[in-house]
Amino acid sequence: MGSIIIEVDALRREFDETLAVDGVSFSVEEGAVFALVGPNGAGKTTLMRMLAALLEPSSGTARINGMDIREQPRAVHSLLGFLPDFYGLYDELAICEYLRFFYHAYRLPREMIGRRIEEIQAHVGLEGYGDRQIGTLSRGMRQKLSLARAILHDPKILLLDEPAGGLDLESREEMQALLKGLARTGKTIIVSSHILSELEDYCSHVAMMDQGRLLFAGSLTDARRRLPAGRRFRLRAAAGVERAVLQLEAQGGVSHVERHGSDVVFEFDGDQPAVAEVVKALVGAGVSLTHFSEAAGTIQDSYNALMKGSR
Ligand SMILES: Nc1ncnc2c1ncn2[C@@H]1O[C@H](COP(=O)(O)OP(=O)(O)OP(=O)(O)O)[C@@H](O)[C@H]1O
Ligand SMILES: [Mg+2]
Repeated sequence: MGSIIIEVDALRREFDETLAVDGVSFSVEEGAVFALVGPNGAGKTTLMRMLAALLEPSSGTARINGMDIREQPRAVHSLLGFLPDFYGLYDELAICEYLRFFYHAYRLPREMIGRRIEEIQAHVGLEGYGDRQIGTLSRGMRQKLSLARAILHDPKILLLDEPAGGLDLESREEMQALLKGLARTGKTIIVSSHILSELEDYCSHVAMMDQGRLLFAGSLTDARRRLPAGRRFRLRAAAGVERAVLQLEAQGGVSHVERHGSDVVFEFDGDQPAVAEVVKALVGAGVSLTHFSEAAGTIQDSYNALMKGSR
């Protein structure tokens, strides 16, 4: 990681009554993988479209590799690849026709076209599908094609808006592997998602938005530090989960009790003997414990904590 490659400066965009992005500022180091997270309507897509120089800001600006998005939109386009959250695909075209079209649009060297298009199809796992009409592709294949288009000109920066949106588990894993590979090649990536856990093992930074505002932008380590005080524990119960929740809520020193199916996560600020007392009390209350452990804080936890604080 190194110098600042993206600098967002008081960026703001309104649509009629709606303030979609409300004075957002942060910077991104070269090689960082930034997860952009936030609920529906937070302003993620609006922010990304402005950074991609596809949507005019109402005020403020951003510099991509030193170039102002308002003053040099064309230069910005050639530097970055954008995967939009909708399919701007052309149903009647074949995959290779579509990629050829964008190859020329990016004004890439003509003599390399055949090799590059084969290479890019292989990269995203669409080799052998060149003649397939886009209208006949599954959602997973369409996302791969969108990604192929975004990286066709080998941009330094990638803006990916919900690349895993609407994909099934298998396709999500394939997309995740592709993005991890791109992250390893040193590209600077901003990727938005609702599914934080999928980003956690390859993103280096996180930006959290809600209602147009940026709640946090920084490294994962900093994000984890934002966790409310107290150690987190996780238990699983074969039976008596409701009893476990009631017991924990009545217990001194316990807070933030959350149930997820047969799992319960909570915070507790007692010492080791006190933890043992909690376990004893749970068993005494008739909870069939099958698992009890100290849980490492995840960015999902810090996100949840931050959202609770902001609302
Ligand atoms: N073209 C538009 N015209 C009017 N309002 C818009 C437009 N685009 C976005 N908005 C509004 O701006 C706000 C932010 O929308 P945006 O699409 O940026 O959110 P998002 O975080 O990407 O949400 P999602 O998770 O649903 O994709 C919303 O209230 C939305 O309705
Ligand atoms: Mg969006």
